[in-house]
Amino acid sequence: MSSEHGESFQTETLAVHRGVYKDTAYNSVTTPIYPTSTFAFERIGVHKGYDYTRSGNPTRQALHENLAALEGGTAAWATCTGMSAITSVAMLFESGDHIVTGHDIYSGTIRLFEQVLPRLGIEVSFVRMRDPREVRRTIRPNTRAVFIETPSNPLLNLVDLAAVNAIAREHSLLSIVDNTFMSPYFQKPFDFGADIVIHSMTKYLNGHSDVVGGAIIVRDGKLAERVGFLVNALGTACSPFDAWLVLRGVKTLPYRMEAHQRNALAVARWLATQPAVKRVYYPGLEDHPDHTLARKQMTGFGGMVSFDLDLDRIGVDALFSRLKLFSLAESLGGVESLVEQPWTMSHSSISEQRRRDAGISPSTIRLSIGIEHPDDLIADLARGLSLVAR
Ligand SMILES: Cc1ncc(COP(=O)(O)O)c(C=O)c1O
Repeated sequence: MSSEHGESFQTETLAVHRGVYKDTAYNSVTTPIYPTSTFAFERIGVHKGYDYTRSGNPTRQALHENLAALEGGTAAWATCTGMSAITSVAMLFESGDHIVTGHDIYSGTIRLFEQVLPRLGIEVSFVRMRDPREVRRTIRPNTRAVFIETPSNPLLNLVDLAAVNAIAREHSLLSIVDNTFMSPYFQKPFDFGADIVIHSMTKYLNGHSDVVGGAIIVRDGKLAERVGFLVNALGTACSPFDAWLVLRGVKTLPYRMEAHQRNALAVARWLATQPAVKRVYYPGLEDHPDHTLARKQMTGFGGMVSFDLDLDRIGVDALFSRLKLFSLAESLGGVESLVEQPWTMSHSSISEQRRRDAGISPSTIRLSIGIEHPDDLIADLARGLSLVAR
C-alpha cells in the first residue's frame, strides 16, 4: 500500500494508475511513447524538464514512478536488461571493496561477480545464505554489501530477509535484493530492511516475454542520487518504447501473479505424486524446507517450480519432445509456460562445480508456469512424464 496526499492505494490500483498520466495535451489515459533522442531547449538553460533521452524521458519517467510505488521506494530506474541494473548497482563499489552473496543466485549474476568485478578489484564471496550465520562469518573489514536473491534460481531456496538485513545493518553494509522471482506483488524487501531492490523486468514485471529490461528501486534519497548518476553515466537506461511496453504489462501484474501462483501450486502438488519425479521444489508445498519462512516474508509463492526427474525412468529429451504447451526455452515470468534444463541452458555459463554446489544436476528441470488453465498444463506434463524408454 502507498499513501500520497492522505490517499492510500493498494498494489492493484498503483499498478494501473501510478505515473501514467503524462499527456497534458490531450489527456490520454495511457502514457504516450516519446520516441525522441533529444528535446529542444526554449533558450539556454530552459527546457520542459528533459534534455536528452539517456538522461531522462517522460515515458520512462512514468515507469519509474510506477515501479517506485509498487516496491514502496523513493525512486526507481528502468534499465535495458536485468544485468544492466545489477551492473549499475555494482558500480557503487570500488577497488578493495568486498560483497557477500548467495552460492545459488542467477548464473548471469555469478558470471558478473566472478569474471568481471574482480578485474575492477571488487571481490565477491559466495556463501550458503540460507544460514545467516554464514553471512556473518564471511564479513570482513572491507565488506560493503550483501547481495540477496530469494527465492533462488532454480531451486527456490529462501534467504531470511529480516535476519540477513539485520546483520547487514549491524555492519553498516548496503542490502541489495534481487526480487525478480516474487515481484513486488508477493514480496516487499524494503519492509525487511533492504536498501536497494533489483528486478529483471524481462520477467514478471513486464510479463509478456516481449521485452528485456531491468529495474533498480531505492529506499533512501541520498542513495537515489548516486544510483541516478550511475545509470546516466553508464548509459544503462532502457528505451522509451520498452518502457511503454513494461508500463502496459505491469498494469496486470497482481492478477497475473495470482494466476501464476494458482497454477504453480496445482502443478507442484501433482508433480509430487508422480513416480517419475524424485523431488519437487516449490516454497508453497508444506514440505518445502523454507515453507514457514516463505509464509513469513512473502504473501504468495510465485510461479516457478523445479523438480528432479528420475532419469532411470524418463530421459530429459523424451520429456521435452512430448510437451506441447510448455515451450523449451530459457527465461521465465511470461504468461506462457516454459520448461528448461538449467544444467545445459540457464545455468550453463557457470562451472560444473558451482552448479553441483548449488544442487543443480542434469536431472533438474525448471518450469516457469504461465497463466493457462491448470488442467491443460497438468495434462501436458502427464503426456510428457508418461513412462517411455530413455
Ligand atoms: C533472478 C534473476 N536476476 C537477474 C536476471 C537477469 O535479467 P536479464 O536477463 O533481464 O538481464 C535474471 C535472468 O534470468 C534472473 O533470473
